[in-house]
Amino acid sequence: MISERLREKFNTAKHVCVLTGAGISAESGVPTFRGGGQTAVWKGMPFDEISSARMVRENLPEVWEWFDYRRGVLKDCEPNAAHFALAKWQDKFADFTLVTQNIDGLHAAAGSRGVVELHGNIQRAYCTNCEKRFDIRGKIPHAPDECDECGAKARPDVVLFGEMLPAGALFNAQSAAVNCDLFFVIGTSALVYPAAGLAELSKRAGAFLVEINPEETPMTGFCDEPIRARAGEILPLF
Ligand code: OAD
Repeated sequence: MISERLREKFNTAKHVCVLTGAGISAESGVPTFRGGGQTAVWKGMPFDEISSARMVRENLPEVWEWFDYRRGVLKDCEPNAAHFALAKWQDKFADFTLVTQNIDGLHAAAGSRGVVELHGNIQRAYCTNCEKRFDIRGKIPHAPDECDECGAKARPDVVLFGEMLPAGALFNAQSAAVNCDLFFVIGTSALVYPAAGLAELSKRAGAFLVEINPEETPMTGFCDEPIRARAGEILPLF
């Protein structure tokens, strides 16, 4: 499944960047948003509506209900073979950057250090007024609901549809993408920008682009080496 050409690239690369999406956590039991012709729905509402900036303004309790539900699902999920394989890569290459769209924290749980989290983290909240951050791990339902500094409502520390990505994380991801010789795009439908644009950026800057996904995506035709496989079965083979 891994070509000789890719093995050679992998064994000689110095600067490697990986972008992961929901698919890398699928084998841990975390449901993806899209895939298999389906999209996630919460109480009859498409997930991109409940996960939106507008819903935070109009119905924050319902947004919390959705995120607390997802935190409940995550409670029993452990990192899988794909997360552990990537955690080993950080010590193999002179320069390695792991960028994720996932908010589940499973890369860090597998031992990855300095993960660039483009879309935030579901186990954190922040104040809608003063932006104080709160660690809400293990607290279901979330707590605090109100900021202990200013009394305003707390919200999930997750980038929602209609919101900007954290500037520092995006900058770090883009720098790694343009400076790497090998870029892996793993378990993402490659539909959500700017994250999906990182693979294009990297390839245009000269990187060898590899996709790992059991399904085709809009990125597939652009890749040097698309691998149709589940992340948990292929990554441990590198
Ligand atoms: P999606 O749910 O859109 O796509 C998941 C991808 O994973 C699909 O292309 C599947 O084919 C693939 N997949 C499924 N199982 C896999 C496996 N075992 N190994 C490898 N790939 C597998 O997830 P994302 O692309 O991450 O945003 O979605 C992007 C963003 O949309 C998410 O970060 C989320 C959502 O709105 C926020 O939460 C802010």
